[in-house]
Amino acid sequence: MASKHTLSREEQPQRWPLPPRRRPDLADFSRASLIAYLQTAPLDEVDISDPMYWETDTNSIYFKRLRDEAPVHFTTHNSDRHRGFWSVTRWADIMAVDTNHNVYSSDAHLGGITLFDMDQDFIMPMFIAMDPPKHDVQRKAVNPIVSGPNLASFEGLIRERTREVLDGLPRGEAFDWVDRVSIELTSRMLATLFDFPQEHRRKLTYWSDVSTSDAEIPGNPQKEERQAILMGMLQEFTLLWNQRVNEPPKGDLVSMLAHNPATRDMPPMEFMGNLVLLIVGGNDTTRNSTTGGVYEFSKNPGEWAKLRANPALVESAVSEIIRYQTPLAHMRRTALEDTILGGQRIRKGDKVVMWYSSGNRDERAIENPDAFIIDRPRARQHMSFGFGIHRCVGNRLAELQLKILWEEILARFESIEVLEEPERVPSAFVKGYKSMMVRLPA
Ligand code: HEM
Repeated sequence: MASKHTLSREEQPQRWPLPPRRRPDLADFSRASLIAYLQTAPLDEVDISDPMYWETDTNSIYFKRLRDEAPVHFTTHNSDRHRGFWSVTRWADIMAVDTNHNVYSSDAHLGGITLFDMDQDFIMPMFIAMDPPKHDVQRKAVNPIVSGPNLASFEGLIRERTREVLDGLPRGEAFDWVDRVSIELTSRMLATLFDFPQEHRRKLTYWSDVSTSDAEIPGNPQKEERQAILMGMLQEFTLLWNQRVNEPPKGDLVSMLAHNPATRDMPPMEFMGNLVLLIVGGNDTTRNSTTGGVYEFSKNPGEWAKLRANPALVESAVSEIIRYQTPLAHMRRTALEDTILGGQRIRKGDKVVMWYSSGNRDERAIENPDAFIIDRPRARQHMSFGFGIHRCVGNRLAELQLKILWEEILARFESIEVLEEPERVPSAFVKGYKSMMVRLPA
């Protein structure tokens, strides 16, 4: 349904004073008060990119209002963190942007694919942040790793590791599911994809976390430190590259990049960019779906009972978990020309943010979207993997990992008790968990 035409941001009077840029100490800013604020604040006043709305899991209140009242909505420049952006919140409008790369660019030099621009003095070209034709040839270079035959060959290994990790968990005592299961399984998988030494696999998690971390959050590495850490990652991977380029081609990602004519002459920063892409792609997303599934089943015991009674539902349950979690909350594009979207005038150069986390809850496209229902008729109909030429390369691998995990959980545990609210990542991009304390039956 097209939204009614409203004034573009240049035509609009500045009605609301810009809210102070603040990151209140969350202890002083209760979740309840944020909910009350998001329910009533003028839409133009809220800056939903503020990490506090993600850390407190309150953002969906605002998105529901945007979908109903202003589905393509501009948030004005609010700080040196961003220069203003369009929020696209309805399923149909998100699809229109995601499938139109001729108008909506992913190019790193225009800012890239996240709401906060890529550092222009430290551009890491990566194929997710490229447009055709270069995007297409680089994507093709790594695609075989997640193709059908390769996936089938991973299945036994994934199952064996999943069993080992689950069998090693303590019974009857509290432990952190994120650390013991979600990170453990995803880092093992990533090490396999790169043929990176398994004993150093947690470095991959560390680099992934550093590359997506927000320097404004206290305790996170600052810009220079972040760049130094990523240069260290490049050094380690360059050693692997140098080894593999002199060996016959193998099936791991480093060997694929080193031997493929489309990627073998990449400059170092581009190698680094693609490493970051593949590490983050394979890490945060599957990791947070792994945690999100346990959390949602704990909130919905009826759905857990349904799955236990009928394990054949595991595939649709995995899709529902991925929809419900939406591990990457958004992807961003930059308009290459003036255009109209949802009745709004978008100017060349504007940032356009597709909020998958909102599209996945759009009642115009998905029935009863706020409910977690594992036997939905069309469970794979969600936007968590995006659409168009950048649709997730690793979606089948992620689904396979999660399917095996839930099959093995079902075979072992009657229940997984979530002991307290999980600690969430303060990020409007990676929608995930830092920790979640759980207990298995003794
Ligand atoms: C792209 C989500 C798992 C590798 C993407 C995109 C999303 C996404 C939203 C961008 C889509 C777009 O712009 O239209 C997810 C989710 C996952 C997951 C939710 C798990 C539940 C993985 C895994 C890998 C991976 C396991 C690697 C092994 C990639 C790559 C791209 C990508 C390389 C870039 C594709 C391109 O630009 O052509 N993913 N991903 N992802 N993902 Fe995933």
